[in-house]
Amino acid sequence: MAPTLSTLAALLATLASHAAATDVWTVNCAPLTVQLSDPIRNPGEPSGHTHSVVGSVAFARYMAQDAAQDSPATTCDKATDHSNYWAPQLYQMLPGGGFLQLPFTGMVAYYTNYTCDYDSSGSCPTDGRSPAAFPPGLRMIAGDSERRTLNMSDLWQAAILMETGNGGEVYGMPTTLSDRLSGHARFPSCWDGVNLDSADHQSHVAYPDPALGGDTQGGMCPQSHPHAMINIGAEFGWSVAGITDPSSLVWANGDTTGYGFHADFMTGWQNPDALQQSFSNCFTNDDCPWRSFGSPTGQDPDPTPLLPLTPAPLTGLGYLLPVLSLPGNNTVYKPMAIKGRRVD
Ligand SMILES: *[C@@H]1O[C@H](CO)[C@@H](O)[C@H](O)[C@H]1NC(C)=O
Ligand SMILES: *[C@@H]1O[C@H](CO)[C@@H](O)[C@H](O)[C@H]1NC(C)=O
Ligand SMILES: *[C@@H]1O[C@H](CO)[C@@H](O)[C@H](O)[C@H]1NC(C)=O
Repeated sequence: MAPTLSTLAALLATLASHAAATDVWTVNCAPLTVQLSDPIRNPGEPSGHTHSVVGSVAFARYMAQDAAQDSPATTCDKATDHSNYWAPQLYQMLPGGGFLQLPFTGMVAYYTNYTCDYDSSGSCPTDGRSPAAFPPGLRMIAGDSERRTLNMSDLWQAAILMETGNGGEVYGMPTTLSDRLSGHARFPSCWDGVNLDSADHQSHVAYPDPALGGDTQGGMCPQSHPHAMINIGAEFGWSVAGITDPSSLVWANGDTTGYGFHADFMTGWQNPDALQQSFSNCFTNDDCPWRSFGSPTGQDPDPTPLLPLTPAPLTGLGYLLPVLSLPGNNTVYKPMAIKGRRVD
């Protein structure tokens, strides 16, 4: 069942309370669609697993480079953010067999200025870091769908966390559940300055360099990817109300560990200069002329659920009516005994 707007607002408010007030911006987005599509990894074809999507109404299996930016509307509360953000959908493995979609409640992206350009001095400026707005057309993926183990030394993996309720971020699936679960992906914030995408959708971007004190949330960019970008921490939420056993949950890619969670970003910011100026000049709420990001009223609108312009392909994806296998036929990692029954 779709969450009501008030549930969504409450969820977003709770998520937003995590962030310090002054040095983080939030982009709050209502759900757009849940479908077997991934225009970055599988352009024009069904994707390998079901995705939960927010942002531009132009989202479709194939998207030309400017499609998101040129689209007429977004489910996000920043009027000029027509980006698309997506992540694997969360499923419940039913005791009697079958997989049921859990209600996707939207996404909150925290935008921060914690990353600085590579500099041979090896230290970020003390008077503030000035990461750039995303180059138009940038596409990237955080995390790795194939991962089923944890290696904290790998920043691409350290960037993927989960949280239930306000229990704090954890690596892997939480061991207890409150009424909601969120999957978090910190996107790389360093760019090679040349490529808007790459074959693996990752090598054109990087995390700040650990050798220079960097981590998944900020620091100095490596020399190989010297250009600092705004750092995005994206948190996708699902309702798990009434579910007490986390081992009955599985991500759409078959991952039960949480380590294989990942997220995709396709920028669609309509005015990169305005984003850049607002990001460079102000973080506090209402005293900034650019704060509204182009909203006609000067206020952030509420995140609004909308339908994609291209209707989602009609496929049984376990919404309301369970499906017998995960769409895309993904194998459940380490099938677990649930109430005495194996779920394969
Ligand atoms: C981020 O921007 C705010 C406001 O412009 C500034 O006060 C803060 O020092 C900046 N943080 C960094 C790490 O540069
Ligand atoms: C963990 O990640 C680091 C950094 O990528 C890598 O050097 C190391 O080999 C990895 N360890 C394992 C066990 O895969
Ligand atoms: C999924 O797997 C089942 C059993 O292996 C097979 O019958 C079915 O054709 C597969 N479906 C797809 C879409 O690959």
